[in-house]
Parts: sequence; structure tokens; C-alpha cells
Amino acid sequence: MKSLKRTRDITPLPSRNFKITVDDQPVEACEGETVLSVLLAANYARVMENDRKVASGAYCGMGVCHCCQVKINAKHKQRACQTLVEPRMSVETLTNRFKEEGIKHD
Ligand code: FES
Repeated sequence: MKSLKRTRDITPLPSRNFKITVDDQPVEACEGETVLSVLLAANYARVMENDRKVASGAYCGMGVCHCCQVKINAKHKQRACQTLVEPRMSVETLTNRFKEEGIKHD
């Protein structure tokens, strides 16, 4: 299985690492960092697809804009910038419950 490489870290990861999966690919993470930190380090720019099927990337990085919503552990619309990583966490980007369930906007 292909692993995501963290090529955009500013400082090296500390030694207490574990893995999470992002879009079914394992990637290193460490205690105390956010899901958004992992996504940005792994070179993800587009993380969310809104109900109008428009992709967006994290904007504020502090929980205000809601532009970083991803699916975490099968739960939609979790803010990546406000969620700390946990071992074996599963993150899916560019997902949308409306799209998955075939719900259409008027
Ligand atoms: S980046 Fe703005 S809420 Fe997460």
C-alpha cells in the first residue's frame, strides 16, 4: 500500500509517531497535531467539497471559516483544523454526505 509522504513539514516530527489514514493511504502523525496539520504536511490543498460540489481548502486554520470540513472516522463535516489526530484515525477528503446519499439541492 502506498504511503503518503510528509514533504511540507517545517520541523521534523517528534519520535512519538503513529499512523492515520488519509483517503485510505497511511501517513505519519504525532500526538498533539491537528488533522489539518497532517493534510498540509502531506501536500493536500483541496480538502473539502461543499454541498454545491465546490472544493475548498483551509482558510483560517482556527475553526472560524468551516472550509476544512472532512470526514473523520465515518463522520461527515468535521473541521480538520479543530480535530486532534488519534492513532488509527481515518480521514477522507473531498467527501460530501449529499453526494454519497444521492441527495440533490433544489
Ligand atoms: S480552516 Fe477555517 S475552520 Fe478550519
